[in-house]
Amino acid sequence: MRGSNNIKILGIETSCDDTAIGVVTSKKDILSNVVINQNSNLNNYGGVVPEIAARDHLSNLDHAINRALEESKLNLKEIDLIAATGGPGLIGGVIVGTVFAKSLAMSLEKPYVAVNHLEGHALTARLTDNIEYPYLLLLVSGGHTQIIAVIEYGKYTRISSTLDDAAGETFDKAAKILGIGFPGGPMIEKMSKDGDPTSFYLPRPMHKSKNPNFSFSGLKTAFNQIAMKNKLNKKIISDLSASIQKSITDCLIDRTRLGITKFKEILGNMSNIQLVVSGGVAANLHIREELKKLCLETDSTLFAPPLNLCTDNGAMIAWAGYEKYINEGESNLNFKPRPRWPLDPNAHLINPIHQNIGRSGAKA
Ligand code: KG4
Ligand code: ZN
Repeated sequence: MRGSNNIKILGIETSCDDTAIGVVTSKKDILSNVVINQNSNLNNYGGVVPEIAARDHLSNLDHAINRALEESKLNLKEIDLIAATGGPGLIGGVIVGTVFAKSLAMSLEKPYVAVNHLEGHALTARLTDNIEYPYLLLLVSGGHTQIIAVIEYGKYTRISSTLDDAAGETFDKAAKILGIGFPGGPMIEKMSKDGDPTSFYLPRPMHKSKNPNFSFSGLKTAFNQIAMKNKLNKKIISDLSASIQKSITDCLIDRTRLGITKFKEILGNMSNIQLVVSGGVAANLHIREELKKLCLETDSTLFAPPLNLCTDNGAMIAWAGYEKYINEGESNLNFKPRPRWPLDPNAHLINPIHQNIGRSGAKA
């Protein structure tokens, strides 16, 4: 099968609150991309409850796979490769997806690949925009905020990451404080449309620092304090939303500018570089616009996958599974789901902030 000319890959994603299944081909056709999100359930709690999310994956998977096959006009036997997120993520959901994928692979006698969720986001632009290595990746999701030099498949050099909270987490927390629902990013973006981004002063942590890392916890605290001092009517909510969206964007742009300089140094001062933005926060149109401007200013080209492929999805897992399979072969059916799984396993050796290694391995 490895030599066959159009491989069909089924990708399963269950690492957070979306149950997602996609089918893609090795020729980069996305045949289906089904996402069942648990927002209505999670809205009641203002966040993801791991145990509930895992149980929901269990009941959603059958339905998701049937829809994905129906949309791709394939039957299970026509699938050549089964890929599933093996981590990092909420371990209950990752276990559900992994067991499901292994069982499918065994019963169909097809190879199974355990995919790093971050690699799914990192390689999406190769599926959607057909880009070549190397490129600089701004990975901004609910759990991660990192700048990574993607040199080639499997060769990832971390330039920076957050010292505390992720950008998506900051959007989610702000939305929770404002009482406008979960996930917070899309709600903050929506409310920002009628708001004035200069109405409230919020800090820009690490702004202009020579250290390329991010930090968002101080911003979260400042936002909470300002919100508590105000009566939250529609106007104030819009203004606060626009202000925090602007502040997060300014931080991302300032850090990415530094990341671009460092990436150019890594590549021996190459001039025009490719910048890829991915992860759920990359669905934010204001952030995409500002990144476009940054690219103009720094002689770089921006690649931003379609919005539905920025947030968690099965197609990105299928594609990353395919790249892993052709580079490294299939995974062992003994693969153990990993709550932590950094893209660059040696990051903790070079940067003290990543030295927090728990029982489950280095923090991503
Ligand atoms: O990549 P993703 O779907 O899941 C993780 O791997 O974490 O990212 C989810 C995060 C959430 O924090 C959500 O609020 C944020 O992405 N997000 C957005 C937008 N859409 C999703 N943040 C800002 N603007 C958006 N439009
Ligand atoms: Zn994600």
